[in-house]
Amino acid sequence: MNDNEPYTTADGRKIGGVLMEMKNITLRFGGVKAITDISFNIREGEIRAIIGPNGAGKSSMLNVISGFYIPQEGEVWYKGAPRPQMKPYEVAQQGIARTFQNIALFEGMSVLDNVMTGRLNHMKTGIFAQALWKGKAEKEEEANREQVEKVIDFLEIQHIRKTPVSRLPYGLKKRVELARALAAEPSLLLLDEPMAGMNVEEKEDMSRFILDVNDEFGTTIALIEHDMGVVMDLSDRVVVMDYGKKIGDGTPDEVRSNQDVIDAYLGVAHD
Ligand SMILES: Nc1ncnc2c1ncn2[C@@H]1O[C@H](COP(=O)(O)OP(=O)(O)O)[C@@H](O)[C@H]1O
Ligand SMILES: [Mg+2]
Repeated sequence: MNDNEPYTTADGRKIGGVLMEMKNITLRFGGVKAITDISFNIREGEIRAIIGPNGAGKSSMLNVISGFYIPQEGEVWYKGAPRPQMKPYEVAQQGIARTFQNIALFEGMSVLDNVMTGRLNHMKTGIFAQALWKGKAEKEEEANREQVEKVIDFLEIQHIRKTPVSRLPYGLKKRVELARALAAEPSLLLLDEPMAGMNVEEKEDMSRFILDVNDEFGTTIALIEHDMGVVMDLSDRVVVMDYGKKIGDGTPDEVRSNQDVIDAYLGVAHD
């Protein structure tokens, strides 16, 4: 399949050209090579999974995409151009939002306030401008609230909007984190193990929300996930990592029948 030829998936979703391309990325921490010369792309509208055993370098890869880590070698291309070195907030302003492997919410704050923090990148009018241009600030505030309410409705968390995050069960916290990321209206959404630690029912809910987000908003999604059933159900294409190297890349069926992948990953039990 040509990488830039748009196509429609079996379930009717439209996949476009390449949105993000990682070119020969190498990332080291002192003597540890977390990522060794990895290249892959993410296409517009796609759900792209990254899988591999613990310590394979998956979170590091998401951290490179989101600007948290700067690779020693390689280039990150986004929307057809090489991306200069950027701070994470600048990457966020380019329309890339993420959730974390370990939940990173403001535990003492309500669900609503946590989701509002996802809008920070859209708050252009600072406090001084607000004093001078009251009308403009009010319009902006209204647009922010509207998007936040839309996301809260969409993820079915109206009933807990006033609840402090600290009181929520794990599965709902994960959903609130997704809501905060979506509030930013990202073009590319990065999810680091969105279903880790969930029970079967919570996993089913989260899978459905991920598919719905992709379908409804056309959001491109890159996710790390351990549950192979979930990966096979959700993703259009899968990158397989092992010890910092890429050992497979293709459709779920292709990687499932790749002998290197079977040896390194699929043949052994995972948590
Ligand atoms: N900030 C860091 N400092 C030092 N080593 C790190 C750091 N982040 C990740 N690593 C190392 O990089 C390797 C890959 O880790 P990680 O990307 O978290 O893997 P995965 O998400 O696939 O489990 C591991 O050996 C890990 O210890
Ligand atoms: Mg990880």
